[in-house]
Parts: sequence; C-alpha cells; structure tokens
Amino acid sequence: MEKKRSSFTGKIGFVLAAAGSAVGLGNIWRFPYLAAQYGGGIFLLVYLILAVTFGFALMCAEIAIGRKTGQSAINAYGQLNKKFSFIGWLGALVPVIILPYYSVIGGWVTKYLTVYIKGEVAAAAGDAYFGGFVSNVGPSIGYFLIFLGATALVVLLGVEKGIEKVSKIMMPILVVLTIFIAVYSMTLPGAMEGVKYYLIPNFDGFTVGKLGKTLLAAMGQLFYSMSLAMGIMITYGSYMKKDVSIEKSVRQIELFDTGIAFLAGLMVVPAVFAFSGGEADVGKGPSLMFVSLPKVFEFMGPVAGRIVGLLFFLLVLFAALTSSISLMETVVSIVRDKLGWGRKVACLVVFAGCIALGLPSALGFGVLSHIKPLGLDDILTFFDFISNSVIMPIVALLTCIFIGYVFKPKALIEEIEIGGQFKAKTLFTVVIKYIAPVFITLILVSSVLDAFGIMKI
Ligand code: PHE
Repeated sequence: MEKKRSSFTGKIGFVLAAAGSAVGLGNIWRFPYLAAQYGGGIFLLVYLILAVTFGFALMCAEIAIGRKTGQSAINAYGQLNKKFSFIGWLGALVPVIILPYYSVIGGWVTKYLTVYIKGEVAAAAGDAYFGGFVSNVGPSIGYFLIFLGATALVVLLGVEKGIEKVSKIMMPILVVLTIFIAVYSMTLPGAMEGVKYYLIPNFDGFTVGKLGKTLLAAMGQLFYSMSLAMGIMITYGSYMKKDVSIEKSVRQIELFDTGIAFLAGLMVVPAVFAFSGGEADVGKGPSLMFVSLPKVFEFMGPVAGRIVGLLFFLLVLFAALTSSISLMETVVSIVRDKLGWGRKVACLVVFAGCIALGLPSALGFGVLSHIKPLGLDDILTFFDFISNSVIMPIVALLTCIFIGYVFKPKALIEEIEIGGQFKAKTLFTVVIKYIAPVFITLILVSSVLDAFGIMKI
C-alpha cells in the first residue's frame, strides 16, 4: 500500500503547515488560564525556559525522525527499532483523547461567534452568561457537533488545503488583533495589577509542591501547544525536504507559537484583574477566556465591541479548525493505515467515535457536573489531564530514552545536518540524554502520586 509521499513546497511551506497545527486553542484558550492559575510570572518564566530547551530538542528530534524514516509515527518508531513501535502507538492515543474535547471548546468559540454576529455584546459580558450556556444540554451538545462536523467535513472532502490557504491570511490578522486587544486590556482601569501578576514572577509563599505542579502544567502545555509527543511532528517531518534546515524551522515555529500564547495571556490576564475578581478569579480554569474577554469587548462599546468580538472569535475559530483538522487527519490516517479502510469509512467512524468520547466533556459543565474524576473540576479537565499531564510526558520520556540510549542522538544530528549546520547540537544531546529523562520522571511520578492521593505535594 505504499503511496508516494508528497512533500511541502519550499521552506516556508513546512513552517506554515506546522505552525497551522501548532497555533490553536492551546495558545489562545489554554495558555492564559494555566498562566493565571499557576502563579502568572512564575508559569511564564518556567514555560519559556522549557520551550527553548525541552520544546526545542523534542521538536527537532520528532521532525528528524519523520524525515529520516519518511514514515508516520507508528511505522517510524517501528522502522528505527521494532521493539519501540509501542511509543508510536502510545503517542497515537493522544489525538484520540484530545480531539473530542478540543471540539467542545471549538464549539464554545463557535457559539461566541454567533453571539457577536447577533450583537449580544452586553448579554455575553454578564457574569452568569457562560455558565448558563455550558450547563444547557441543547446548546452545549449542538455547538460541539457543529465544530466537530465542520472538521470532519473538511477531512472527508479532503479540502484542508483550502482551509490552510484561508488561514494563512487569517493568522497574521489574528496576531495583529491580539496585539490590539492586549494593549487595550492592559490600559483598562485596574489592569496594571494583572500585567504585573503575569509578567513578574512572585515567589512569596511558593512551595516545592506548587513548583512541581507548575512545572508539570507548563510541560504539558508545551507539548500540547507545539503538537509534540503525539506523533504529529513526525508525520510532518516525513513530508519535509532534505535541504530545509530543521533547526531554523523549529526556531521559527517556536517563536510564532510562543509569541501568540504570550500575547493571549497579556490579553486575558489583565482583563481578569480589571473586571473579574482579580487574584480570586485567576483559578477559573477552562472558562477564563470566555468569561473575561466579553467584558473587554463590552467596555469597547456596543458597536466597536461587536466588531472586535466578531472578528476575534472568527479568527480563533480558524486557528482552532486548522488544529482540529490536523488532529483528525492524524487519527483518520492511523485508522486507514492499520485497518485498510477507505477514507470515507474511516472519517465517519472517527467522527462517530469522537461524538461518543466528546459528549461527556460537553455535558460535564451541566447535567454531568457532579462527576469529578480524580477530584478534578470536570470531565473535560480530566481528559485534558490524562493526555497532557500523563500520556504526553510518558511519550516524551520514552522518546528521549529511545533516542538518547538506543538509537543515539548522533544519528538524528546527522539527519538534521543534511539541511545545514546544527548549532545547538550539544544542547540537543544533553537535553535528550540527561536533563529531560530525569526531569520528566521526577515531575511525572510526583504528580501522578499526588493525583491519586498517594502523596500530597
Ligand atoms: N497545538 C494545538 C493547539 O495549540 C493543538 C493540537 C495538538 C493540534 C495536537 C494538533 C495536534 O491548539
């Protein structure tokens, strides 16, 4: 069943496609609420350090594995070493868990887009608005299905290229709009406290336990945001031409991805201090953006608020779609490769499976809100925790051990150097062989013990 692999045209094609997968709800919805929840400046600092070390090394490794083998994740690990193909399988589990609940959040974005289309600027800014929406069975399922359906339709028709083209225009506009909203947010009365909270690390009362949780949250966010530890970058790497510099591409993707996350935080966190309960409200979790931004838009006035709100949610929707499409593509191609099904059948089965898996998350803020798996706030947060804080760190750890000690970094460095000198190869080797394995093991073990109530950190 060997198909000839197509490749990205030129250097910029690869970076744009990978950035399309990387930039999504992770940057705009997830990053700000985690930063708010985990101490603002400390989270930001930890995240940036991890991004330029772990994130960089792991992304280089995954892309190089993909380009070297010319295979997608499961086959790639298998080709390098038969015994290690299970890493690919484990990684393949991640998009299966993420896509359903990602579509729930995508549904929330779709809902807020309709709100601003209708001009309900003041209503959306009300304190109870978001809670009212997510606890209502009909709309919470309806918007989830619309978003998931749109994703499935694009994958089914194979028109990703069209969406990617549109998103190439939308992404830069999103950046400009995010900068605009961030500046506006920062100048709101009372927002300065939030800016300080977000930018200046404050270690007062910061215990080792809190630091451990912050590290785990930041690491999970890094993997999630950069689409790492789930095989996606391996697949992208397999389409990459040999003369393109992996190192430069990774730097560019990282800069873009982290830049947007940083700006999103600057947009959301000060607004929480200006309008909501400030520090009392920073732990709001998944709802944070949907509660605080409408208040910013309302402050702009009914007309300007409507326009900015509409444009914002439209752009976020596109960013979310390019990511959800890349998630679904991955799942569909695994199903096709392994079961030999046609594209249509595979798409429909994945679609149905996602509905089944996503419904509990969609209902977890209403009729199922009494279910709190592992003591986490809601079902969506549970799936989010399992994928980002458990499976992804395990996949990353196994990848580092495999590359560091079985396959050896040298073989990947050679692959990376085909496209030009690899300046950070010492950093790469040290992170993959020593720092990452020790560090990930420590955080992982302590946090899992904590989650299961065996040891309190
Ligand atoms: N990186 C995407 C985001 O930040 C999410 C994603 C993860 C997309 C994995 C594709 C694959 O939203």
